[in-house]
Amino acid sequence: MNQILSSLAAIWGPWAQSGSQPYFWLPDRASTFARDVDWVFNFILYVSLFFFALIVALMCWFVLRYRRRPDRQEVEESPHHNTALELLWSVIPVILVCLMFYYGFEGYMDMRTPPRDAYEINVIAKKWAWLFKYPNGYVDDKLYVPAAEPVRLVMTSDDVIHSLYIPDFRVKQDLVPGRYTKMWFKAIKPGEYSLFCAEYCGSGHADMLSKVVVLEAAEFAAWLREAGDFLKKLPPEKAGEELHRRRGCAQCHSVDGKAGTGPTLLGIWGETHRMTDGSTAVVDENYVRESILEPGKRIREGFVNQMPTFKGVLSDEEIGYLIAYIKSLGGSAKGESP
Ligand code: CUA
Repeated sequence: MNQILSSLAAIWGPWAQSGSQPYFWLPDRASTFARDVDWVFNFILYVSLFFFALIVALMCWFVLRYRRRPDRQEVEESPHHNTALELLWSVIPVILVCLMFYYGFEGYMDMRTPPRDAYEINVIAKKWAWLFKYPNGYVDDKLYVPAAEPVRLVMTSDDVIHSLYIPDFRVKQDLVPGRYTKMWFKAIKPGEYSLFCAEYCGSGHADMLSKVVVLEAAEFAAWLREAGDFLKKLPPEKAGEELHRRRGCAQCHSVDGKAGTGPTLLGIWGETHRMTDGSTAVVDENYVRESILEPGKRIREGFVNQMPTFKGVLSDEEIGYLIAYIKSLGGSAKGESP
């Protein structure tokens, strides 16, 4: 079977099957799946185009050829039956759909079965950010992976259904709250590739953009070692600023004074805010901590609670850095809690 297919692939031409160069309108081919996925895609596309053209052309020709004319009012005699023709138009499509099934199924099984030695990274999706958790506990909002090594993602969602989509790798998989889904790939070459959410998950859906950064294996190991303790090397408010960006806070909480899905963090330290239940709260250490761990408990007036809890995602130390960062953004207390 494979021999027939590879000879077919040869006929298919260098334009559909060659190397890792992107073909025509398709994205870059940056994973080992890309070539096979493109092959099946092109095969189905061109078979469909061929039959579309053939059928429409025949249809037009028949309409013209057999139209009613002044000199031909009666219906013409036509043969009832043509065994050769009927066999031809049944057998050829059967072969074609069997090929499509074989290729599609083979590719699907390959994509569903990660190699045993795959490098594992945990993924948590939440409104509206991606968190990638590495084996040493480090969490980043970008997906860093080693090149030429199989990587398995074990994924879940904190709230609604999201879908992790990396077009250049030709992989896409839903993340469902309350269960784990898996996906794997092998990146071919170092570089940066786009990563999207492909499931409409709410008003911040379009903000769920991230990157896959593919590094050479040695570089990746070095990066992971370095990244694991980057927070300790920064002053607290800088560490908080990094966390604000890397843990997805920035998607909802701006630092320029504009309200987003959540309130801005600019100039709120020490301010007294009115809550939706009519009470008031002073923005201090305890209030910020509570808002991170139990976002639904007290909600600022003018907002609805859309925030997932960060319990188990942010450590006490990290919450401390975030508090230092919010302090540094100013407010009536000028960095001091009243
Ligand atoms: Cu998450 Cu769309």
